[in-house]
Amino acid sequence: MSTPKTDSTWRSQQWFGASGTPGFAHRSWMRSQGHPDRVFDGRPVIGICNTFSELTPCNGHLREIAEHVKRGVLEAGGQPFEFPVMSLGETIVRPTSMLFRNLVSMDVEESIRANPLDGVVLLCGCDKTTPALMMGAASCDIPTIVVSGGPMLNGSYRGQKIGSGTSLWSMADDVRAGRMSEQEFRNVESCMSRSAGHCNTMGTASTMASVVEALGIGLPGNASIPAVDARRRVLARDAGARIVELVREDVRMSDILTREAFENAIRVNAAIGGSTNAVVHLLALAGRIEVELSLEDFDRNGATIPLLVNLMPAGDHLMEDLFEAGGLLAVMRELGDLLHQDAITVSGGRVRDNVADAEIWDSDVITSLAAPIAENAGIAVLRGNLAPGGAIIKPVAATEALLQHRGRAVVFHGADDLRARIDDPDLDVDESSVLILHGVGPRGYPGMPEIGNLPIPKKLLRAGIRDMVRISDARMSGTAYGTVVLHVTPEGAVGGPLSLVRDGDFIVLDVPARTLTLDVPPAELEARRSQSRPEKRRGGYLQLFDEHVLQADQGVDFDFLVGRRGVEVTGDNHWE
Ligand code: FES
Repeated sequence: MSTPKTDSTWRSQQWFGASGTPGFAHRSWMRSQGHPDRVFDGRPVIGICNTFSELTPCNGHLREIAEHVKRGVLEAGGQPFEFPVMSLGETIVRPTSMLFRNLVSMDVEESIRANPLDGVVLLCGCDKTTPALMMGAASCDIPTIVVSGGPMLNGSYRGQKIGSGTSLWSMADDVRAGRMSEQEFRNVESCMSRSAGHCNTMGTASTMASVVEALGIGLPGNASIPAVDARRRVLARDAGARIVELVREDVRMSDILTREAFENAIRVNAAIGGSTNAVVHLLALAGRIEVELSLEDFDRNGATIPLLVNLMPAGDHLMEDLFEAGGLLAVMRELGDLLHQDAITVSGGRVRDNVADAEIWDSDVITSLAAPIAENAGIAVLRGNLAPGGAIIKPVAATEALLQHRGRAVVFHGADDLRARIDDPDLDVDESSVLILHGVGPRGYPGMPEIGNLPIPKKLLRAGIRDMVRISDARMSGTAYGTVVLHVTPEGAVGGPLSLVRDGDFIVLDVPARTLTLDVPPAELEARRSQSRPEKRRGGYLQLFDEHVLQADQGVDFDFLVGRRGVEVTGDNHWE
């Protein structure tokens, strides 16, 4: 039996190269899984951080993807170890998966730091799993590659393309307006979700998979290869091989996630019509990796970027179509000098190298810069006395005529109140009204759920109204659309002005001027201001969340998680 090397500088050798009782303990129990000496000889040890769960259907295929990552790691001379972390199924977890994003990030961070890992591959897919894993890994800052699970195949119903979420929202309106029966609605379920993978629209999961590629922390092609396409397995295998090289080259997450990388992600997010959720996730990730990024950076970098991708919810097609049309690489190539082409990526090449051979194969799905689907596709950041800390809107998903609007407020105090009254025939509302919902921010709900796209009152839907100005401190599903102002900061639950709005107050939305105004005199607002604060939640994780969650303009991270803490661990678990 050979003696394990002790002179390697790999972090994993602090465990596997150790002598005495600790070294014995670190190796012996691992041998129970059938590992020979060479596993401990100083080769790079790669963690495969897996969010597989049968309760996260979008990530249900990730154990198979992990096997392909392992093949790549072994081919490159590394040793893979797969480990589970908490998973979050967007459509299953209550009250909202966002409540647990930071908890998952803590699981990831502590799992990486506590174990003998030199590099890590993050397997994710469903909405929050991607930012949660990146945030946790960023706080450790070791070599890292993200492998997304890939989107589902296109949905189809009665000859029509139907997309995850987006078609659900419009059909739900059809049911409420009496245009579709409950039985038809149910029939659509299996037509929409017909293969493994995450949502096939440009919702949050596809947005974050694209952000991964745009940041350079995933391999080229990561964004759009369908989950069931063999090329997704090839990408996973390539990632396994590449992470071993990144460890050898000591290329850490902070070498990739630079200010330029974040600016690229913001600009790509605009060009693809990506989800508003990217804002809180990128702000949180930047905080972890210690890159200066503010809400204004989204407007400054993204607002004038044209929309090049014709995908639901803003357009007609789905992720499978984007892949066939050339994928995100074609979009990034088309953006040209609007991106930092010299930004380095985990592929070993710079952005310009990765996109060099990309082409647009279907101009109905990916358009040229010369003939974009829309100008000014980025997220607009609004400020004013209703949102002193900022609020956001995605103008390309809104009704143009409503982007400058003055209307009377119809106020809902929390989700239960909204549910109880939105379809009340006596609700004093018309199409010019502005629907206000507060109490659904990070602390209020808690967890800042995706309910910012308030439903249109049934009586207006029946009259043919499909959009209204809606304002809240919540988030919105990336698959949703409408003239929806989100992430109003500070949230109502911590005394934000949103909680001071009363029925009949006039609200002025002016997106071109970037303002959101409550047309009520300051003295009147002061008189309305209650000294009451929400009751503190006591006990368990909710107490931790309540006491430490930051507002939306800071990414809804926990205050004590911001920053890089590295992977140094002092002390071992056994005596010499
Ligand atoms: Fe999982 Fe949409 S529900 S990605």
